[in-house]
Order: sequence, then structure tokens, then C-alpha cells
Amino acid sequence: MSYDSRPIGVFDSGIGGLTVVQHLMRVLPHEHIIYFGDTARVPYGSRSTDVVERYAVEDASFLLAKDVKAIVVACNTVSAVGLGAVRAAFDIPLLGVIEPGARAAARATRSNRIGVIGTVATIASCSYTTAIHAINPSIEVIGIACPLFVPLAEEGWTGHPATRLVAEEYLSTLRSSAIDTLVLGCTHYPLLHDLIQDVVGSDVRIINSGEETAYETTAFLTQRGLLVQGSPQPSYRFFVSDSPEKFRLLGERFLGMPLSEVVKVDITTDAGH
Ligand code: DGL
Repeated sequence: MSYDSRPIGVFDSGIGGLTVVQHLMRVLPHEHIIYFGDTARVPYGSRSTDVVERYAVEDASFLLAKDVKAIVVACNTVSAVGLGAVRAAFDIPLLGVIEPGARAAARATRSNRIGVIGTVATIASCSYTTAIHAINPSIEVIGIACPLFVPLAEEGWTGHPATRLVAEEYLSTLRSSAIDTLVLGCTHYPLLHDLIQDVVGSDVRIINSGEETAYETTAFLTQRGLLVQGSPQPSYRFFVSDSPEKFRLLGERFLGMPLSEVVKVDITTDAGH
């Protein structure tokens, strides 16, 4: 069995990817992690494919320069529309969040009716639908874009009446669609988990793509002989393209623990161009 003690690289359009890092830390407690959050250019979810692809290649390039052994793309939008561009640009083990989420949802559904919520770009790409249909073409997938959930989660309005109103509006189609499984196809939505569960009903099974990705990362690294050797104390390093203070403040809520050092970088010059 071979090992690789270099860090895992994780990137996201901003802060939301910390909800994925949280699960990576739990499932792989000895892996070193380097995170890049493109806070200066967030959100990606309302941008065109060309732009998301370009940003994604720059983000991955930054992590590669830090000598990571694999990259986990925590951002659903990038995983949905930009993974191919990153794969074409670099020869690096790469894992996105769409397929793990799709696999977990296909396993969970009994009624073969799955709801998927995400950014405008993620839903327009139909990536979850494609991934679910590759497993079982008879599953019906209903995708709904919920763009306002991102700022509401960042604002900390996770139980606010305004957020409930927005959720009721967005999720009304799902409520009448008799889904039994719902994929949280965006990094921010796990913060709204309880409210979303309440709105769609307790009989709907909620799948957190980021959490599923953390589980699949273990198998992914094991198969490639890339797990860290032994049980070292892990190191976590965070890089952002805008204010580190804001990231640290908000990030503790997304990560569920205090953030260590956060460093600001200029992604257009530090991405190795
Ligand atoms: N990280 C994005 C995602 O998971 C949400 C925020 C954004 O739009 O950039 O799709």
C-alpha cells in the first residue's frame, strides 16, 4: 500500500465550501487540508459557464502550486459546469460533489422521485439529473434554483421568518411533487437544513452532497494510494481572495469550529499565470 502525506486541496467560490471541509475533517481526521475560497469573485452560481470554467482553472492552479495530492471541488456550481475544464487543464486526482450526492440520492429514494436544489447555474446544467439518470434512468428529478438561500445563509438568517417565506415559495413545487428525497446541491444549504426539512416535511430524506463527498473521498484516496501515512496531527491552511477577517468571522459558523490562520492572496497573479 502506498501513501501520500501531502495535503488535500479544496476550493470553493467562497465560504460555503467550509461545510464540505467540516465533513472531510471528521471523516479523514489525519489529512492535511489546504482550502481556497474565492471570496473576491463569489457568487459563481449566477455566472455563465465560460466564466465559472476560467475561475475554476485559476482556483485549481493556485492549489496545485501548493503541491496538493488531490483536489476536492466543494462548490456545486463548479462541480456542475467547470469540472471538465479543470480536468482538461491539469492531471490531478479530482473529485466533485455532484456524483457523490447523486449516488446517495439514488440509493435513498423509494418512490423514484428526487428533488434537487442549487444555484441557477447548477440547476440549469442538469448535472444532478444526468448523474442520477446514469444510475437509474427511471428516476424523476425535479430541480429548483434557490439563489436567495446563499445570501440568507451568509446573513445567518437560518431560522428567520423571511427565510421561511422564501423557502415556502421556492419549495412549493417540490411539496406537490411527492418527492421522497431532496439533494442539497449547494454548499450553503446545509446551514438551512432544519428549515428546509420543516418546509418539505419530515418524510423527505435530505441528502447533503458535501457530506457524501467526504465519505467518497476516503475511498477515492484509498484506491489511488493517496492516504496520509500514520496518524499525524493534521494542519489546516485557509486562503481567500478577499478580506480574511470577514472569512474568519463567517467561516466559524460554516465550519462549526474556530478558524486558524487565514491568508489573503491575489488569485489572478498567484494562480501561476
Ligand atoms: N458555492 C456555491 C455552490 O455550491 C454557492 C455560492 C455561489 O453561488 O458561488 O454552488
